[in-house]
Amino acid sequence: PVGAPDKALAKKVTKVGIIGAGLMASQFALLFVRKLQVPVLITDIDQARVDKGVAHIHDEIGALEAKGRLDGDTANRLRGLVRGTTDTSEYADCDFVIEAVFEEVGVKQQVFAGIEAVVSEDAILATNTSSLSVAEIGAKLAHPERLVGFHFFNPVAVMPLIEVVRTEKTTDAALSTAFVVARALGKKAVLTADAPGFVVNRLLAKVMGEAARAVYEGTPVGEVEKAFAPLGLPMGPFQLIDLVGWKVAAHVQDTMASAFPERFYANENFHALAELAEVVEKDKGGRVTGFTKAAEKALKGHLGR
Ligand code: 3HC
Repeated sequence: PVGAPDKALAKKVTKVGIIGAGLMASQFALLFVRKLQVPVLITDIDQARVDKGVAHIHDEIGALEAKGRLDGDTANRLRGLVRGTTDTSEYADCDFVIEAVFEEVGVKQQVFAGIEAVVSEDAILATNTSSLSVAEIGAKLAHPERLVGFHFFNPVAVMPLIEVVRTEKTTDAALSTAFVVARALGKKAVLTADAPGFVVNRLLAKVMGEAARAVYEGTPVGEVEKAFAPLGLPMGPFQLIDLVGWKVAAHVQDTMASAFPERFYANENFHALAELAEVVEKDKGGRVTGFTKAAEKALKGHLGR
């Protein structure tokens, strides 16, 4: 059941905890410090990852300062609000904790078990999962009713949307807090049911899968990109996959194909994208600007079998 949020029920957020210090997590860590101006803790599985995440946030603050979007004092204050740690006991006084770790239910359950052991009983927990079941992620929590889905889009600084996902157990307080936090971050929140891919990734998986299929049918990649122009989207499907990350895109396909085999070609598109993700990884360290020839060949080769 999808209910309406109520501002009056929202909990005040005074310190944010972020689990995961990858690209997505560091992007929204920056947004939290800029917009909420509260202390933000980030953590990951080792110090090197934590340091990389903090360095990325500092770099982004520096870039905003260089562009004149932040004055020197504000930039320094924001830097001071971000802290990296490998010791999750420091999360004890966080009242809003959001995770963006590897898209694997077991991993996320473990992360939340560790966090629930240290935070207060009324802390709100959020997951940035893009397509996993939020209810399943919360299944091992002592208080699953405080968990809400809070799904950002890439690039976090620019995309105006957050999907807020309510499970059957999510309380009105958790839901309302998520809405108030989304608004404070300058985003528009939409409330979705806890169904695979929520709304956006369900649509995107189709778009990306059909684009891959068009190449299989013989349309060159560049032409597929151009053919998207009349739809008024800011970028073509392959450029979008590039932005999201090939592995993430392949994973979304996989989740959708498993959840809705009859509607997603029973994993066929997933295999194409997964194979491509590997090619791109080897070719350009996991990220390319534009679609490489090697990736195009792999796509045709794979789908041609
Ligand atoms: N980080 C921060 N800011 C960025 C950015 C980034 N990675 N990329 C672009 N920007 C900013 C620029 O600084 C610029 O801001 P300004 O106008 O204040 O100077 C603004 O965005 C516009 O940038 P550009 O003029 O360079 O480029 P475009 O106008 O071509 O826009 C784009 C770039 C915003 C990426 C646009 O192409 C776009 O909206 N693409 C679609 C993105 C999309 O659909 N994302 C959803 C992906 S799905 C997902 O994330 C879900 C996951 O679960 C898989």
